[in-house]
Amino acid sequence: MRVTITVNGSAETVDDVWEGESLLYALRERMGLPGSKNACEQGECGSCTVYLDGVPVCSCLVAVGQAQGRDVRTVEGLTEGPPGDAGEARLDPVQQAFVDAGAVQCGFCTPGLIVASHDLVERNPEPSDAEIREALAGNLCRCTGYEKILDAVRLAAARKRTAGGKAVRS
Ligand code: FES
Ligand code: FES
Repeated sequence: MRVTITVNGSAETVDDVWEGESLLYALRERMGLPGSKNACEQGECGSCTVYLDGVPVCSCLVAVGQAQGRDVRTVEGLTEGPPGDAGEARLDPVQQAFVDAGAVQCGFCTPGLIVASHDLVERNPEPSDAEIREALAGNLCRCTGYEKILDAVRLAAARKRTAGGKAVRS
């Protein structure tokens, strides 16, 4: 089976898709996009989270055939604009907030957490701690204890409000 998907704004075609092949496998092994991580392959950890038609999903649970003709955005696709003068990626504010807050240790959970957090602050630029915890409930981290992750989401949301011209509460 041949499948064509729009991935991070570009049409990607994969041939000889096998029965049961996941979107996660196709992204990582066929399209050269290893940002989405494969930790459990059972929908339990969220490390493989991507946007599918604008909705975060566990890509390990989506058959690549289900993505035919649809729009996928991965953690790689969240970077903003072309590389800088030194060739460095221009990180999305949520990505930058994870770096600045020290929310990354082994990093295995990070791509999924960033996509889930990105979705949250897009929908709700002033989330309460309870709303952050609820939004990230499907994303497991074995390293950080979550406090730095909460800091990162708070920071990303605050920066988004500032960028939008709204005063940030101290
Ligand atoms: S690898 Fe998909 S949820 Fe864990
Ligand atoms: S940083 Fe290691 S699993 Fe989250």
